Amino acid sequence: MLDPLKIGVAGLGSVGAGVVKLLHGQSELLERRCGRVLAVTAVSARDRQRNRGVDLFGIRWFVDPRELAADDEVDVVVELIGGSDGVALDVVESAIAANKSVVTANKAMMAIHGTRLARQAEQAGVGLAYEAAVAGGIPIVKALREGLAGNRINRVYGILNGTCNYILTAMEETGREFDEVLAEAQVLGYAEADPGFDVDGIDAAHKLALLTSLAFGRPVEFDSVFIEGIRDIGTVDIEYARELGFRIKLLAIARATESGVEQRVHPCLVSRDTLIAHVQGVFNAVVAEGDFVGRTVYEGRGAGEKPTASAVVADLIDLARGGNLPAFGVPTASLEATPAVPMEDHVGAYYVRLMVVDKPGVMADVAAILRDENVSLESVLQRGRDPGEVVPVILTTHVTVEAGMRKALREIAGLELVVEPPLMIRMEQL
Ligand code: HSE
Repeated sequence: MLDPLKIGVAGLGSVGAGVVKLLHGQSELLERRCGRVLAVTAVSARDRQRNRGVDLFGIRWFVDPRELAADDEVDVVVELIGGSDGVALDVVESAIAANKSVVTANKAMMAIHGTRLARQAEQAGVGLAYEAAVAGGIPIVKALREGLAGNRINRVYGILNGTCNYILTAMEETGREFDEVLAEAQVLGYAEADPGFDVDGIDAAHKLALLTSLAFGRPVEFDSVFIEGIRDIGTVDIEYARELGFRIKLLAIARATESGVEQRVHPCLVSRDTLIAHVQGVFNAVVAEGDFVGRTVYEGRGAGEKPTASAVVADLIDLARGGNLPAFGVPTASLEATPAVPMEDHVGAYYVRLMVVDKPGVMADVAAILRDENVSLESVLQRGRDPGEVVPVILTTHVTVEAGMRKALREIAGLELVVEPPLMIRMEQL
C-alpha cells in the first residue's frame, strides 16, 4: 500500500467543507479506488469557531493559508479561496514552489494566470488540476483532455453560468423582468450580492478561456474573449424568440475558423429543437464537437457544495493514482498562440428589437440602411398597431458580417422615430 496522500484544504467555505465531507464520508471507497488513503491533514480558514458540519478534530489548522502551502505534512494543496490574485495566487505559487501539487476551483485565477502557473507546475514536476473551475460537477476538463484527446475539436460551447440560466429560465416561466428575477435569485442564494461577474458574462468567460485552451491547445487568453451579459434582455425578447421557435440562452462559444479561434460569451437565440435549449434553471451544459467523435454533450450542476466537491475530489484521485497530465493537454511549450478572431469578423444571423414610433415610413428607412450595409432581412414582426405610440418591431436577418450589422444599427439608432438603442441578439446555428 502506498503512503497516504496528505491533503491541505485552503478555504473552508461550502465547497471546502464539502470536500472534507466527501473525503471523510467515502474514505473506504476512495482508498479502494486509489490504493491509498486520501487524508486531510491540514485546513485553513479564518474563523475557527464556525460550525461547518464537518469533523476537523486532529487536523492541523492554519489561519494563514500560505503557511499551509509550505507545511511538510501536506502533499497536495486544494485552493478554494477564490479571486484571481492576492492570497489565492500566493498560495498556489507557494505550493508549487514547495513542490506540491495544486487542485483549484479558481476559474478567475486560472483564466488570467493559467498558462504561467501551468508552466511553473511543469518545471516543478507537480500537478495543477482545475476540474472544478469549469462547469462545477461536469467533468469537462477530463473529457477534453483525455476522453476526446484523439480528436481535433471544431467547436466547444455551452451554458457555463447557472445564475444567468436560472434568470433567463425564470423570466420565461414567470414573465417577470430581469431586475425582479435577479433580486429573487439573490434572496435564494443563486446570485451573489454583487451579481456582475455572473450576469455580465465574466464568470462564463473565465471558464470559456480554459475550455478554449484545452480544446485548441492555445495559451489561456481571457483578454480576447468577447463578452456581453444578459442585463438588456427583456421578457418581450423571450416571448418573440418563443414565437420564432427559439429560446434565449447565455452561451460561451469557442470555435476554430479559417482565420483563427473565436471566443465569445453572449446571449443567443438557439432553436428549441436543440439539446442546449432544454437545459433550464441552474444547470450547466457543454457540447464538444470533435472530428472523429462528432457531437458530445455533458449536462449537470455547475455549482454548489456537492457537485464542486465531486470535481475537486476527482482531481485528488488522479493525483493519488500518480496521474499528472499537462494542465492544458499539452506541455506549455507546445501551446500554439493561434490568432484570435475579432468579433467584428463574426459571421452569423441576428435578431434585432427596435422600439419605434408606429408611423408610416419608419420601416422603409430601417430597410434602406440594412440594404446599404448588405444585410438581408429574413423576417419582420410587429404585433398589432398603435399609431403614434412606441411599439417593438422584431427583425431577423440572414447570415451577415457583424461589422456591417453593427454599423447599420448605429445608423438605425440615429433615426428620429427609433426611440431606444436597438437590441441585437445573435442567432446561433448549433
Ligand atoms: N456563479 C457561478 C454560476 C458558479 O452561477 O454558475 C461558480 O462559477
